[in-house]
Amino acid sequence: MASIPNEFIDDLINRVDIYDVISPRVSLKKAGKDYSGLCPFHNENSPSFTVSQQKQFFHCFGCGKNGSAIGFLMEYEGLDFVDAVKDLAQMAGMEVPLAKSNKPKISRNLYAITEKAARIFQHQLKDNEPTISYLKKRGISGQTAQTFQIGYAKDAWDGIMKRFDFQEHDLLAQAGLTTHNDSGKVYDKFRHRLMFPIHDRRGRVIAFGGRAIEPDQKPKYLNSPETPLFHKGNELYAFHLARKHSDDNFILVVEGYMDVVALFENGVKNAVATLGTATSAQHIQNLFKVWDKIIFCFDGDRAGKQAAAKALETALPQYLDHKTISFLFLPDGQDPDSYIFEKGEQAFRELCDQAKPLSEFLIEHISTGIATDTIDGQAQLFHKAQEPLNRLPKGAFRQMMTNKIESLTQHQFKKQAQAKTKRQQESSQSPVKKIISLLVNLPTLHKLIPEALDLHAFQFKGVEIIDRIVEICQSQPHISTAALIEHFRNDSFFQHLAPLSKHYDHLDNDQKTLEFKDLMNHLLKKAQQKEIDALREKQMQSGLTIEEKQQLVNLLTTKVN
Ligand code: UTP
Ligand code: MN
Repeated sequence: MASIPNEFIDDLINRVDIYDVISPRVSLKKAGKDYSGLCPFHNENSPSFTVSQQKQFFHCFGCGKNGSAIGFLMEYEGLDFVDAVKDLAQMAGMEVPLAKSNKPKISRNLYAITEKAARIFQHQLKDNEPTISYLKKRGISGQTAQTFQIGYAKDAWDGIMKRFDFQEHDLLAQAGLTTHNDSGKVYDKFRHRLMFPIHDRRGRVIAFGGRAIEPDQKPKYLNSPETPLFHKGNELYAFHLARKHSDDNFILVVEGYMDVVALFENGVKNAVATLGTATSAQHIQNLFKVWDKIIFCFDGDRAGKQAAAKALETALPQYLDHKTISFLFLPDGQDPDSYIFEKGEQAFRELCDQAKPLSEFLIEHISTGIATDTIDGQAQLFHKAQEPLNRLPKGAFRQMMTNKIESLTQHQFKKQAQAKTKRQQESSQSPVKKIISLLVNLPTLHKLIPEALDLHAFQFKGVEIIDRIVEICQSQPHISTAALIEHFRNDSFFQHLAPLSKHYDHLDNDQKTLEFKDLMNHLLKKAQQKEIDALREKQMQSGLTIEEKQQLVNLLTTKVN
C-alpha cells in the first residue's frame, strides 16, 4: 500500500477549496456564511447538507456524514484514499509523492485502455448499418445508445488489437479485451458483438458485455473476465447513470443489460443490472448508500423465483430499519425490457407499486411446500422461520417479523387444537409409527419405499424397527401380517405391534396404498428440504465445492412437489 506523507495531505487540503470539489456534484446555495444543499448520501426533500468553506468541511445533519474534500470524494465516488488524494492533487496541479507501488499505475493505464476501446467500439457502431438497425428494431434510440456508449466489435480476430500500439497489447490482455489459445496465439475476445461498456460508480469504463448479433451466435452474452479493474461482485451495470438521472428514491435491480437500457429509453432511469451473477451483499450496501429503497425485479418463471430466493438470502443480513427492500415478479415469459416495450412506462410503474415487501416475500418463501393449515405445517413453519429471523440485523424490523411469525403460527395452533378430530390425531402421529402400522397391516407396501429416501436422515426414534421389517419383507415377499409380527416376539415392543397393525383396518388396500405413497412423498420432500437447507447454510458460511453446488442444483430441480 502506498503511503502519502501527512505534510502533503495538509498542503493539499490547504490548496483545494472544498466548495470547488462539491459544487459540481451537489447543487449548493449560499446559506449565511456556509452553503447548503440536498445531501447526496441519503434521500431528503429539504437540505440538511452543509459545506463550510471556512472549515473546509462538509456535514449532513440528516445522516451525520461529514468530512474533508478527500472524505467527500471517497464517499461520493467510491474511491479509496489514495485515488481520492490523486484526483484532488490533479485538480490542484500537484504531484503526489507516492512511495513506490506500481499497482495504481497499472490501474491508471488500464482505464485508458478500456476507455479508448469503448470509444473505438462506439465509432464502429456508427459504420455498421445492420447493428444499428438491430438496436432500432429493439426500440433503442440513437440518443440512448449514446448515453450508454453502446458500440460494436468487428467480426475480426484483430479488430481491436490493431487499433492499439504493440506496446499496449499486454494491457489490452490485462483489461480482458484479448485472449489467447493453447498455442499462445492472441486474438480479440469480442467479435461481431453489440458492446455494452460497464462503468464503475464514478463512470469510468472498466469492462464490457458483448451481445451476440446472430441468432445462432453463442454465447448470447460474453462478459469481460475479472480484471484488476473489474470485480463482478462489486459492480452493477449502469450504477453511475442511475445515480445521475434518477429522481426517484428507489432503485430497480434487474437481470439484464437490455432491461436497463430499455427501461431508460422508456423513461425509467433508475435501474441497474447485476452482471450475470447473483446479487452480493456488497451490491446491496452500495445501493443503500444512495437509495433508501431497493426493488428487485425478477422474471416470473422458475429461474426468476430461484434468483429471488437467492437475493432474499443475501438481503436478510443487510436489512436496515430505515431502508426497504421489495420484490417484483413479472408475468411469466416477460422481462422488464419486453414488458415496458409492450405496455409502456405507466404500466411498468404500476407494477413497481405492487412489488412485494421483503416481509411478505419472506413468509411466502418459507411457507412454500408447507401445508400451513395443518398443525404439523405450522410447527414446521415456525421452525423454518427461526433461521432467517436470526439472520436479520437486530432492530425494529426483526422484532416485527418475529411477532408476525408467532401470531401466524400460535394463533393457528390454538384454533387447530380445538378442532382436533380423531382423524387429525391419527395424522399427527409420528411418521415412524405410521410407517410401521401400514407395513405390518399390508406388508407388500414395503416395495413403495423410494430408493432415494434415507429414513435415517431424520433421526427418528425407532427407525431401526422399520429397517428390520423391510428386511424380512424383502426375503419373504408374500409374508402375512401375523407371520411378520411373530418375528418380533422376543422384542420389548412386540405387544405394540398387533394394535398398530389394526390402525388402518378401516381403509381398503387402495386407500392404504395411497396413504403410504403420500407419507413417502412427504418424507422425501422433507429430506430434500433438509439437505437443501444444510447446503444453503454451508453456502452462506463457507461456500460450496463444485460438487456441492451441482448437488444443490440437482436437488432444486428434482424437488418433489
Ligand atoms: P437474458 O438471457 O435474460 O438476456 O440474460 P436479456 O438481458 O434479456 O437480453 P436480451 O433481451 O435477450 O438481449 C440476462 C443477463 O444474464 C447475463 C447477462 O448479464 C444478461 O444481461 N447473461 C446471459 C450472460 O452473462 N451470458 C449469457 O449467455 C446470457
Ligand atoms: Mn430481454
